[in-house]
Amino acid sequence: MLNILVVNGPNLNTLGTREPAIYGMVTLPQICLMLQRRGEELEATVHCFQSNHEGALIDYLQEHEGSADGIIINAGALTHYSIALRDVLATVKPPIIEVHLSNIYAREPFRHQSLIAAVCRGHIVGLGWRGYLLALETLVELAREQVKEGNV
Ligand code: DQA
Repeated sequence: MLNILVVNGPNLNTLGTREPAIYGMVTLPQICLMLQRRGEELEATVHCFQSNHEGALIDYLQEHEGSADGIIINAGALTHYSIALRDVLATVKPPIIEVHLSNIYAREPFRHQSLIAAVCRGHIVGLGWRGYLLALETLVELAREQVKEGNV
């Protein structure tokens, strides 16, 4: 079984009621359930973690990255200003995919910059909850390629 971490930052716990025109009606527990079900089909265990606190996200990543085959992160607003979060992501070994529900490039200028993008394998924006599923499928493929290439 592969081990995939799904890390969500500030305010993503209120998905479903938070600005639904931008973020949609699907809640974070619903997204996690979809990911876990898809994970079962792909033989991957999906662990979901959310915090409104930068330090708690960093602690979680430091503690768990060692056992992970891939990380999905939606850092919320921290994306745009947290050097500390970028620094921890730069040190983790498994591939990271950055996800944003909304298209950050079509919104306010302060959202156009992601401090974490350069330390991620790739990022998916603007596809709502589907972005998380695409990220999961991609991380599973990347991990299986690694095994085939004998890099693990
Ligand atoms: C977000 C985009 C961020 O700019 C915002 O602060 C969020 C959500 C997204 O998923 O679209 O909290 O990360």
